[in-house]
Amino acid sequence: MIKSIGILTSGGDTPGLNAAIRGLGKSLLSEFKAEIIGFKDGFRGLMENRIIRLDSNSLSGILSLGGTILGTSRDKPHRMPFGNKVHDMTDVILHNYEKHHLDALVCIGGGGTQKNALKLVEKGMNIITLPKTIDNDVAMTDTTFGFDTALGISTSAIDRLHTTAHSHHRIIVVEIMGNKVGWLALGAGIAGGADVILIPEIPYDVEKIANAIMKRSRTGKPFSIVAVAEGALNITDVAPQDDDKEIKRSSGSSTIQLASELEKMTKLESRVTILGHLQRGGTPSARDRILATNLGVACTNQIKNGNFNTMLALKGDEITTVPLEQVAGIRKFVPLDHPWIESARKVNTCLGD
Ligand code: F6P
Repeated sequence: MIKSIGILTSGGDTPGLNAAIRGLGKSLLSEFKAEIIGFKDGFRGLMENRIIRLDSNSLSGILSLGGTILGTSRDKPHRMPFGNKVHDMTDVILHNYEKHHLDALVCIGGGGTQKNALKLVEKGMNIITLPKTIDNDVAMTDTTFGFDTALGISTSAIDRLHTTAHSHHRIIVVEIMGNKVGWLALGAGIAGGADVILIPEIPYDVEKIANAIMKRSRTGKPFSIVAVAEGALNITDVAPQDDDKEIKRSSGSSTIQLASELEKMTKLESRVTILGHLQRGGTPSARDRILATNLGVACTNQIKNGNFNTMLALKGDEITTVPLEQVAGIRKFVPLDHPWIESARKVNTCLGD
């Protein structure tokens, strides 16, 4: 008999987190009448035993709320920062898990959370994870909730930038979130009709971008929208000697530099818009609310089946389970032969290569 379930949200906040907490919490209450303990601020709150008891009142009215009622953090159980040092706090976390007599802990998070959750599985805890992130980079699931909302926000931003770029005959370089992967920039770029889309998976050559913009200009279109993912890299930064180093694009300044290089090369005035956390805030889309609710409800079923140490994943229309070891530490990049890449190229979008 299930008596007590813990829930936490971890990593960057994502629209739909509250919908998932509600879906899980409400279905748990009707299935088991279990006690539901929410841990605040991710693994940090679990370690510090900071809790909120979730009941039918606290689970009401949160479906459309952005953010997370539990709070979140990027703290890792096995590398928790204290001042300048990090400590492995998994034993303290195990102690709190046992103190609350948890039958299972549900961790709602992105790629990092899958790795962190596996550390707790190794300590003997029963864990189920629900995948979320606006980056859409969690492996073994078709998509993650949060992505659809962020895609809508970035697309409507590109739509708005289009009219002003057109009126002023300018290049507008719009930076879209996605430090390691380009799903969001590629999706929003296609949906918003960006003329150039730059993603981390395809290093870009500024000269090729400038040529594409000048070609547009010669054919009577003296304006362009460049959708650049935070983590897109200039080909000159991906030198062979750097292969073993992790190269990180500096969000903001690299985008400003790109815009100024394009301005010099094309002689078209350029402007920069950094969408930043606007893409993560506010109400979730209907699609994200449905996915998050379905994941929450499916999680209750898996708890009932005792199917622990798994991540719930979307495959087509169905929610399935994937062993955590198969997903932890694996990032879902945009495959270079993905249909979105092909479509972008076929409508003459420059991908910087
Ligand atoms: O992982 C989601 C994400 O929004 C990334 O796209 C972005 O690079 C990062 O989080 C920003 O993180 P933070 O909010 O901690 O600055």
